[in-house]
Amino acid sequence: MHLLDGKQLAATIREETAQAVEEFVSRHGKRPGLAAVLVGDDPASHIYVKNKRKACEKVGMASWLHSLPASTPQAELLQLVQKLNQDPQVHGILVQLPLPKHIDEATVVRAVSPLKDVDGFGPENLGLLAAGHPRYLPCTPHGCQQLLLRNNIEIDGANVVIVGRSNIVGKPLALILMQKAKGANATVTVCHSRTRDIPHWTRQADIVVVAIGRPRFLTADMIRPGAVVIDVGINRLEDGSLVGDVDFEPVAKIASAITPVPGGVGPMTIAMLLHNTLCAARLQIEQRS
Ligand code: GUN
Repeated sequence: MHLLDGKQLAATIREETAQAVEEFVSRHGKRPGLAAVLVGDDPASHIYVKNKRKACEKVGMASWLHSLPASTPQAELLQLVQKLNQDPQVHGILVQLPLPKHIDEATVVRAVSPLKDVDGFGPENLGLLAAGHPRYLPCTPHGCQQLLLRNNIEIDGANVVIVGRSNIVGKPLALILMQKAKGANATVTVCHSRTRDIPHWTRQADIVVVAIGRPRFLTADMIRPGAVVIDVGINRLEDGSLVGDVDFEPVAKIASAITPVPGGVGPMTIAMLLHNTLCAARLQIEQRS
């Protein structure tokens, strides 16, 4: 069994990005910058945003944090997004999800300027991806694709089964892997809470991706020997330990390759966010000059 080490690969991608950032700075005299917006006090979201900003620093990007109380009215959040849309130093805007219940996420996501939408969640970037002309790929699914490709796992022609149809992971991952493009061309099946017999589908897969947020959901009897398993889940158990959506030890015994949790997909999400922010800076500077 081969461990798909996302921590190591994310460090490699960060080094590549850091070099590209320095080239960008010497060419344009400006530093790519990411503005993170955090609303409320969800502890997991605070950690994610802290790690995203730390990663920006590591690669020489500017980063700003706008931390707002949970009671912030939607109109105020929209005003902040508008201000960031107009700020020429800000190339990428990241509104950490989930947002407090009184705020409509779709409205906020749509308010982010499409060229600054480095999460790739907005309708323009999702539409471009669905139409086969991607601009910014959503970070977690893009990280899954990179983990496969850079470990020489063939996606072309593979049977990929994704468990989970979220807008953040499952749905965009299906769009990415079914693209008519190098590093994609997979036959993709998406299973979800209303799928009749999930093990029937996962057992056919060359590559299984699980992203449903249920601790140790994928068990060893649900995969075929030699399958590749990508675990997008991060679940905190009552005893404080972190586990993925995959029952790691038994599944690792029969998989040919598997991602650990933590240290698998998580660090890749952040690496791809940096990649998108650099792309965003390039697009915006080149558009203006
Ligand atoms: N919440 C969980 N994953 C993500 C992500 O990739 N981006 C943002 N903005 N929020 C998230």
